[in-house]
Amino acid sequence: MSKQILVTGGTGFIGSHTVVELQNNGYDVVIVDNLSNSKIEVLEQIEAITGVKPKFEEFDLTDKQKVNDFFQKYTDLEAIIHFAASKAVGESVEKPLMYYNNNLNSLMNIMACMIEYKVPNLVFSSSCTVYGQPDKLPVTEQTPRKEAESPYGNTKSICEDIIRDTLKACPDLKGIALRYFNPIGAHETAKIGELPLGVPNNLIPFLTQTVAGIRPELSVFGDDYNTPDGSAIRDYIHVVDLAKAHVVAIERLLNGKNKANCEYFNVGTGNGVSVLEIIESFERATGEKVPHKIVARRAGDIEQIYADTTYANDELGWKAQSSLDETLLSAWKWQKNISEK
Ligand code: WQD
Repeated sequence: MSKQILVTGGTGFIGSHTVVELQNNGYDVVIVDNLSNSKIEVLEQIEAITGVKPKFEEFDLTDKQKVNDFFQKYTDLEAIIHFAASKAVGESVEKPLMYYNNNLNSLMNIMACMIEYKVPNLVFSSSCTVYGQPDKLPVTEQTPRKEAESPYGNTKSICEDIIRDTLKACPDLKGIALRYFNPIGAHETAKIGELPLGVPNNLIPFLTQTVAGIRPELSVFGDDYNTPDGSAIRDYIHVVDLAKAHVVAIERLLNGKNKANCEYFNVGTGNGVSVLEIIESFERATGEKVPHKIVARRAGDIEQIYADTTYANDELGWKAQSSLDETLLSAWKWQKNISEK
């Protein structure tokens, strides 16, 4: 029988790509999502790619009773990948309580059930935001965490602490926190991708919407950073490469290959890329022009961050494969697909 994995937030951007990779590797997936930032149609899109429609339960993970009911119903779970969370940095500054409530309570409800129902394995969506603006680049997993710039970022740090402390108290449980850098791109079939609500905050959806004519111009936030071309640097990773890291993390836990019961991995490419280089790469890959202007820095942005991925490469046997051009081309194909609808 195939192994059953709970994927919370499985209809979202990273979640849906991970469900596809899990199914392609023979796992039986159950998704829990409250559809607060995703659409139910994603299930059919996943089925169109893999031939299998994942099981689906719609409820809010902050509802302790419903989480309990779920674990009573699904008794064959071997592992959980916990994506479900609120993730807009700006919104978290306006609504901190909503962020602490959603992101912390959902994790705590799940972990209480992991203990009660003996589901031993957890993979958690963490973020490079836990490093803040590091003193030294690239960042390794040992780079000290810094005080978060936003309530959103703080929830990722606190969730890591909740996991660390709970696993310390419950040595039968195991967990891996994957610290994502900047996930972008879409599945090669263009059937799933990022679906931002309203005006996108993130660079790539804003860029592709601009090229699609939905926005007049992309604003480049700052060209006076201490970087080679003055624009800010990030580590952009293809969402499918990121999704594959989850499959490898799950296999590590299921096969007992973990070296501690709580582990952390940087999931990036190792390449620092500036905003202006993104525009250049997008234009080269797609043949489209990106209308843009330079404006002031965005409040709360750091200057640069990129990963040292040596530990993830060596320990997980995983490495990001896609080039930046390919990744941006996939984002553009996805944008064209959704613009046509
Ligand atoms: C990337 C770069 C911007 C928009 C955030 C969260 C992080 C993670 C991913 C997710 C920056 C510049 C952006 C635009 C621009 N969390 N930019 N014009 O801020 O690195 O990371 O999203 O769920 O925790 O902090 O990503 O895509 O917003 O920005 O010039 O219109 O693009 O200044 O340098 P960021 P981003």
